[in-house]
Amino acid sequence: MSSKILTLDDFDFNGKTVLVRVDFNSPVDPETKKVLDDTRIRAHSVTIKEIADKGGKVVVLAHQGRPGEPDFIPLKQHAELLSKALGKPVKYVDDIYGEKAQKAIKELKNGEILVLENVRMYPEERKKKSPEEHAKSEFVKTLASLADVFVNDAFAAAHRSHASIVGFTVLLPTVAGRVMERELKALDKVLYEAEKPCIYILGGAKADDSLAITRYVLSNDIADKVLTGGVVGHLFLMARDVDIGPPNVKLIEKMELKPLIPGIKELFEKFPGRIETPVDVAVEVDGKRKEIPVSSLPTEYPIYDIGTQTIEKYTKIIKEAKTIVVSGPVGVYEREAFSKGTKSVLEAVAESDAYTLVGGGHTVAATEEFGLADKMSYVSTAGGALIAYLMGEKLPGVVTLQKSAEKS
Ligand code: 3PG
Repeated sequence: MSSKILTLDDFDFNGKTVLVRVDFNSPVDPETKKVLDDTRIRAHSVTIKEIADKGGKVVVLAHQGRPGEPDFIPLKQHAELLSKALGKPVKYVDDIYGEKAQKAIKELKNGEILVLENVRMYPEERKKKSPEEHAKSEFVKTLASLADVFVNDAFAAAHRSHASIVGFTVLLPTVAGRVMERELKALDKVLYEAEKPCIYILGGAKADDSLAITRYVLSNDIADKVLTGGVVGHLFLMARDVDIGPPNVKLIEKMELKPLIPGIKELFEKFPGRIETPVDVAVEVDGKRKEIPVSSLPTEYPIYDIGTQTIEKYTKIIKEAKTIVVSGPVGVYEREAFSKGTKSVLEAVAESDAYTLVGGGHTVAATEEFGLADKMSYVSTAGGALIAYLMGEKLPGVVTLQKSAEKS
C-alpha cells in the first residue's frame, strides 16, 4: 500500500506563496497549435481553486509536449482555459524563473493565480536526476526561495524524476493536491484493497505494458483474472499457439512484439485459467465486419475486434466481479463496425456494481464517446504514470511525497 502522504488539509495556505505542479499536458492540433481537450486543466482547477480560496498566492508550474515535437507550445492557452474553468482571472508570464517570473510572483496578492511558462523550455527540467541534484539547479533554488510550500498535483507526470516534480520537495514542505490524492486513493483501491473477485481488462496496442501489468497483478494475487483484447489479445492468442493469420502476425512483427511471447507463455503456465483470450474475433471482409471463432483461425483478413461469443463470456465475468480495471480498448472502436466489443465491454463495466477504474488515453476517450464516464467509479487522467503504477513501479513524484510526509 502507498504509505502516508500529506494533503491540502495539512497546510495553512493563507498569505503563503504556493508552487503547484500540475499536469496540463493536453492534445494539441499540430497545424493550428490549438489545445484540443481541457479535461486535465479542469481537473487541476479544483486544487488551484481550493488553495486560492484559502488565501494562497498560487504559482502554477506545468509542461506541455516535449521539445522538438509539434505539441511543444507555450502555456498561454492553458492559462486562458484555466481562467475559463475557474470563472476568474488567471495571470500568465512567458518566463519560468527569470526576472519577469520573479517579479510576477512577488506581486501576487492572496487568492491570485499565476501560470508560469512551460517548464520544459528550461533545458535541465527533463534531466533524469535525483531530487537532491535537481534541488541544486538555479530554477529550483530561485523559485523555492520565493515560495512557502510545494503542492504536487501532477500524478500523470509522477513517473518522471524531473526538476519540477521532485526538486522542490527537498527545499520546501510538500503536500499532494486533490488530483494526486484522488488518483492514489483510486489506484490503491484496485491494487491493494481490491474486493474480490477482481478483474483487469487489458487491450489496446501497448502489449509490453499489458504483459508487465498482468505479471504484477497475478503474481501478487491482486487480480483473479485478466481479460485480453485488442493487439494485446492477438499476442496472447499467439502465445497460446493460435495461428492468427498473415496480416495479424505481420502487425505483431511490425510492432516488434513477438519477443514478448515466451514471457506470456510462462504466465499461462504459472496461472492456469486466470488469463482469458478471445474465443471469437471480428475481421474486415470487403469493408464489412465478419465474426469467426478462434477455432477457425487462421484468417487472411485483419482482426479488428473481439466477437459476440467473447463479449458474452467477458460480460459474465464482469457481472461477477467486485473490482474492475480497464486499460486499453478491446478493438478498433474508432471504426463503427468494430466498436461493438469495446462498447459492450465498457457498458457491462459501467452497469456493474463493482468498483470500476478506467484509465489510459484511448480507453477514457472511448468511455466518454459512449457516454459512460459518469457511470464509472473512477476515470484516471493519467497515461504512462497509471501504467507504471499498475505494474508496481515506485513513481518518483509519489516517493518524494511520502518522504516529505515522513520528514514532517
Ligand atoms: C503524460 O501526458 O502522460 C504526462 O504528461 C507525461 O508526459 P511525457 O510522457 O512527455 O513525460
